[in-house]
Amino acid sequence: MKFIDLPTSTYQLITYQPTNLSLHPIMDIVCSPEELKLFQLVGDAAAGMNASCYLIGGFVRDKILGRPTKDADIVCTGDGIALAHAVANLLPNRPQVNFFKTFGTAQFKLNGFDVEFVGARKESYTTDSRKPEVTPGTIEDDQLRRDFTINALAISLNKDDYGKLIDPFNGIEDLNNQIIRTPLGPDITFSDDPLRMMRAIRFATQLGFTITPDVFEAITRNKERIKIVSQERITDELNKIMATPKPSVGLDLLFRSGLLKEFFPQFVDLSGVEIIEGKGHKDNFYHTLQVIDNTAAKSDNLWLRWAALLHDIGKPATKRFEDGHGWTFHGHEVVGERMTPRIFKQLKLPLNEHMKYVAKLVLLHLRPISLTKEDITDSAMRRLLFDAGDELEDLMILCESDITSKNKAKVKRYLENFELVKERLKEVEESDKIRNWQPPITGDEIMQLFNLTPSREVGVLKTAVREAILDGVIPNNYDAAYTLLLEKAKELNLAPRL
Ligand code: CTP
Repeated sequence: MKFIDLPTSTYQLITYQPTNLSLHPIMDIVCSPEELKLFQLVGDAAAGMNASCYLIGGFVRDKILGRPTKDADIVCTGDGIALAHAVANLLPNRPQVNFFKTFGTAQFKLNGFDVEFVGARKESYTTDSRKPEVTPGTIEDDQLRRDFTINALAISLNKDDYGKLIDPFNGIEDLNNQIIRTPLGPDITFSDDPLRMMRAIRFATQLGFTITPDVFEAITRNKERIKIVSQERITDELNKIMATPKPSVGLDLLFRSGLLKEFFPQFVDLSGVEIIEGKGHKDNFYHTLQVIDNTAAKSDNLWLRWAALLHDIGKPATKRFEDGHGWTFHGHEVVGERMTPRIFKQLKLPLNEHMKYVAKLVLLHLRPISLTKEDITDSAMRRLLFDAGDELEDLMILCESDITSKNKAKVKRYLENFELVKERLKEVEESDKIRNWQPPITGDEIMQLFNLTPSREVGVLKTAVREAILDGVIPNNYDAAYTLLLEKAKELNLAPRL
């Protein structure tokens, strides 16, 4: 988004109505009536305490950009906690104020909207911790310690200059020029809080902005400092990058700055091309970025995007050069499936059904494309329908996204064959109803029939029935399953109860 440059220093905080014909993206900030009422109360409460107060940070940035906002940060001279209490007392429902004395911050919720207060401060950080030492300061001191110029913009809520923009570091110009820059020298800003290196890349990806070269170089220089940041916070930023329409932008910046290697070396191991006997393989890092973007264009599901990120993660461990054949990555999908829980643990991603879903897609990611070959039987189709179950549509998105090649004709041919596979899968599912299917004889029935307790034999018999039906050896009904079961039981020296 590009703004028309205007020499403006004062904003009008207004509520949008269709009759606001003067609405201008840079002069007017559109607020809900509740927000305007709140700002009025904050101004009143601060005046009663002889303090000055300002809207600051992401709220100001996003309002100017016309992006949705979910919280508002207010900074005041003096005691932010006292101001939060004073404002809460003026509100009809008197929301409960949560506060952190050591940080001088307070927060309450207003109709699901987060309102945060902080006293303006000078901060200094120690080298081994993100926890700052805080002393009271002016609004400019406070702006100077913030991460980026576009996040240091403040708007006055005080009676005498209500709506005035306080922009000592040309944040508006940087918004206009779509630039990420730090108010202080970037080494100081990042040393104060190394998470900001991740934030710089996240904002660049979310907003489509450019990180200035000196700031990017500072990230490269300070990358090791990310180690003092908790993995949860790093991963939170990583997931925000993954949730953007083009995650490759941020992932590439993480890679090129060296940050990615600090917390996710397995991903970096995918990069590079090796050439033997004149034969090279593709750069699996950049291939993966393409697959993630392709997936993101088709689905907002964060975990499907993670499956795209991890689909080839087993390649470095399985890479071989076979004489006369070239590069192979046999079994990389199995290795990738096994690596998934370890990576989830390392990155502090949830070790729940999301992890199982990602591991399953990594394991199955080659299956649909293998069905594009000729002479594929219905039983191969049935087997995929059974194995993929509820995840079939997502698997098909992943697999289609995995078709990347510089050769356009090749991509076209693959995609056409892939459409045929989709059609056939649909036909087989319609006739056989195999997804979420359960074999006609259950494990309980097998135990009763042969007087067994839970044991290996029960598993063997159950699998034999399931496989025979999926392979089309016997039809999908009870009688056929029962007959086969008796035959298999005989091989195991088991006799049915009379
Ligand atoms: N901030 C900072 N350094 C950080 C985190 C935050 O200087 N590591 C400051 C910035 O001024 C930021 C404000 O605190 O704008 C609020 O932080 P936060 O709510 O985390 O981020 P937003 O900028 O509001 O953006 P988003 O909600 O997208 O995370």
